[in-house]
Amino acid sequence: MRKKLIAGNWKMNKTVNETIRFFDNLLTNIDHSIISKVDIAVFPPFLDLYVALEKCKKIDIIIGAQNMYYKDEGAYTGEISPVMLKESGVNNVIIGHSERRCYFNDSDNVINEKVLSAISHNINPILCIGETEKERKDNKHFTVIERQIKRDLFNINSENIRNITIAYEPIWAIGTGKIATPDDADEMHKHIRHIIGEIYDNEVAENLRILYGGSVKPNNSKSLLERNNIDGALIGGASLKPDLFLEIIKSAIE
Ligand code: PGA
Repeated sequence: MRKKLIAGNWKMNKTVNETIRFFDNLLTNIDHSIISKVDIAVFPPFLDLYVALEKCKKIDIIIGAQNMYYKDEGAYTGEISPVMLKESGVNNVIIGHSERRCYFNDSDNVINEKVLSAISHNINPILCIGETEKERKDNKHFTVIERQIKRDLFNINSENIRNITIAYEPIWAIGTGKIATPDDADEMHKHIRHIIGEIYDNEVAENLRILYGGSVKPNNSKSLLERNNIDGALIGGASLKPDLFLEIIKSAIE
C-alpha cells in the first residue's frame, strides 16, 4: 500500500512573515491524527525554509526545497547547493518543475545531474515530468513522458529509485484551471509505472509514488486521489491558503 503524499509547491510566493502566519494557521487547524494517514509536505522559497523547519519541529510535515544546483560549492552566483540544504535540515527537493524547464532552461541533462546529486547527498527528489498541450494534441504525450523518464533517471539504480517520487504535471494544466480528467491522469500514471517496471522491476514500480499536479483544488482533488495509480498531489495555487490545503489533505483520506 502506497501512503498518499500531499505536497504544496509555493513557487515564488510568501515572505518569512507570511510563512509564519501560514504555519500558525495550519498547525492550529490540523487534526494531528491525520499525519499517520497521509504524508504532508511544503516546499517554500529558500529564504522561508529556516522558519518553516522551525515551525514544523514538533509535527511530521516535510519541508523541502523547490530546486537546487548539482555542484557542492563554487562560483555559481545565485545558486544553492545540496550541501547547504542538507546542513539546514532539508531532506527533500523538487527537481525539474516545468517552470524550471521553461523559464530557466533546465534541460533533461541538467535535471539528471540534479537528481543524481540529490541522491548522493541523501536528499529525496520529487521529479516533475509533463507534456505540453501541443504534444498531447499530437498524441505524443506517452512518448514524451517516456523520454523524460529515461533521460532524467539516467544512471539511477534500482536502490536509489526507491527514494524518488515522480510528479506527473501536464504543462497545460499548471496554473491554468484546466485539469486532466481522473481517467487521463490515471492512464498516464499507469504508463509511468509501466515504464519504471520495464527499467527496474515490478516491485520498484509498485512501490513508486506518483503524484498528479496541475490545478488541483478542493473541488477536484478527491476524484483524482481515489484513483489506484494516483498516490498524491503536488499543489501550487491552492497550497498557499491553509484552509484550501487542509481540505485537499483531508480529501486524500476520505
Ligand atoms: P497549480 O501548480 O496547482 O497552481 O496548477 C501546480 C504545480 O506547478 O506544481
